[in-house]
Amino acid sequence: MASTEEIIGRRDVNDVEQILMISNTDVEASIHAVKDNADAIFTWDYEKGARPALNKLYEKAKNSQWNGETDLDWSINVDQEAVVVANQAANNRGVGLDVTGTIFEKWGEKEWTELGIQSQNWTLSQFMHGEQGALLCTAKIVETVPWIDAKYYASTQVMDEARHVEVFAKYLNEKLSGHYPVNAHLKMLLDDIVMDSRWDMTYLGMQIMVEGLALAAFGFMHQMTTEPLLKQLLRYVMSDEARHVAFGVLSLKEYYQELTQAEIRERQEFAFEAAVRMRDRFLQQEVWDRMGVPVKEAVTVVMQDPAQQLFQQMLFAKIVPNCKKLGLLDAGDAWLRTKFTELGVIDFEHMPDTEEEYETFALAEGEVASARR
Ligand SMILES: [Fe+2]
Ligand SMILES: [Fe+2]
Repeated sequence: MASTEEIIGRRDVNDVEQILMISNTDVEASIHAVKDNADAIFTWDYEKGARPALNKLYEKAKNSQWNGETDLDWSINVDQEAVVVANQAANNRGVGLDVTGTIFEKWGEKEWTELGIQSQNWTLSQFMHGEQGALLCTAKIVETVPWIDAKYYASTQVMDEARHVEVFAKYLNEKLSGHYPVNAHLKMLLDDIVMDSRWDMTYLGMQIMVEGLALAAFGFMHQMTTEPLLKQLLRYVMSDEARHVAFGVLSLKEYYQELTQAEIRERQEFAFEAAVRMRDRFLQQEVWDRMGVPVKEAVTVVMQDPAQQLFQQMLFAKIVPNCKKLGLLDAGDAWLRTKFTELGVIDFEHMPDTEEEYETFALAEGEVASARR
């Protein structure tokens, strides 16, 4: 069994200095190659519907395809600065954060607005990079999963993820004011997921952890933003993501039945590693860098902000119940429960898991049809 240090590279999960030491060093590169270490698996068992729940998800996916070019209203004009100011006003920015004696003490409207703009550019950039991670991972699942119903379903997800990368890239290009390279913590996590040779680890890393977090983050942004095009875009993406997370839960629930205690423990450790990487990335260290403020000091102040703490915890609202559903929380000596308690996110265990919930995210059939003019 691995120690915390072996799993995440530091002893204390909250050690800011160690977190910030990890940064993206090849920001100029236009490609990044990762070994995917896995066998491509043919199956000769073509019995469609042998796994009825996956088959149902596949049929649903076929009817839920949309087109980012034509179903979203790109004619909507976005004044990013005005949107940031409106969002900040609507969401009580900074309430509860005491900046006395910090680098933010002298900040006025101009700086806070610029921070909002940079944060938005950064957040949407990371969503886009994460979506590309999902695109690659799901293509890998098509190759590596041994079940025909899962190969069929995963192929629809590949198409979904292509659309997601496409719409986030287009929104960034046409409506916002700059890109950020992939965050180092997110990149480490995506690399680890792609490199793992075991097919179920792709699902755990991507469908359960990354997409579980994405579903929560998109939901939060969907609720917070006052910008109609982004709202519509997120609504479409979320309806797909809920299906993707359900795909992960359904597949792993079956597969984990076969695993030994030691193998389950490796899955728990991977889930913990992923949780820490994702939490670290939300410190958005690159934004502070671009704003020209000392990164460590900024991060330390922001970590005290009750709104930021709430946001970071909320990101785990889907992950924790899904890990519980899969039996990962309490397997063995309930190791993952202890770890999620340390991260301050265990309270979400009673939230609905995505297998129960995904229907509520689905776009109504009429909505997809009417959007297809
Ligand atoms: Fe996606
Ligand atoms: Fe997805």
